Amino acid sequence: MTAAFDRVMHQLYGENIWDNFIPSPGDDGVQGWNGLHDVFKKVFSYDAENIIIDVGVWKGQSTISLAQNLKDRGLNGVVIAVDTFLGSPEHWNREHNFFQRIHGMPDLYRTFMSNVFRAGLTDYIVPLAQTSTTAAAVLKSRGIRAGIVHIDAAHEYREVLNDMNDYWPIVEQDGFLIGDDYDPSWPGVVKAADEFALRHRLPLVLEHPKYIFQK
Ligand SMILES: C[S@@+](CC[C@H](N)C(=O)[O-])C[C@H]1O[C@@H](n2cnc3c(N)ncnc32)[C@H](O)[C@@H]1O
Repeated sequence: MTAAFDRVMHQLYGENIWDNFIPSPGDDGVQGWNGLHDVFKKVFSYDAENIIIDVGVWKGQSTISLAQNLKDRGLNGVVIAVDTFLGSPEHWNREHNFFQRIHGMPDLYRTFMSNVFRAGLTDYIVPLAQTSTTAAAVLKSRGIRAGIVHIDAAHEYREVLNDMNDYWPIVEQDGFLIGDDYDPSWPGVVKAADEFALRHRLPLVLEHPKYIFQK
């Protein structure tokens, strides 16, 4: 377990919430979107603690990539995984059956936890089951900041812009805000990222479909 993991876990929960966790038996191979992108392997190491916040984690693909990179490089670090674990409008699709439900309630949290457990990364990942907005407020109230924030939660214009505005103050100086789905198929993401770049006079670096701002 890293010192950064220990500090963040205890700041948020006062105990290690992985203790006695039993994974579910099924294994879906960590289904996700753009969570294996090369950008997750590049942006290290930026300081002594390497705190990363992944906003919109689904079943864990991007979070696992980020944490695996910390582990492979032997870095002190932690990935805080923020999600409602309820899915987005595009996942409300009975034909695709993206996830199981228990009495109607999506069971994504358990799937996420089980995937992290099977990846052997429970010492690097702290889940935070909340809306992105509430999670940002909680993190700010605990004085937790990050060198990297990856935003991949809601994809509607208003929500993406809100997420960028909520998490930009949490990004450390020289740190990175990375977002997913800068692509014509997600016009709300493109519009929000373009506006954010203009407002903050920042160059928008693209590694399709990721957009990257450095503070
Ligand atoms: C596209 S998926 C994330 C994919 C993931 N990064 C991967 O690597 O596969 C979007 C996720 O954002 C979450 N989400 C949507 N709106 C949210 C919000 N307002 N707050 C927190 N999570 C949200 C959904 O529950 C869903 O799990």
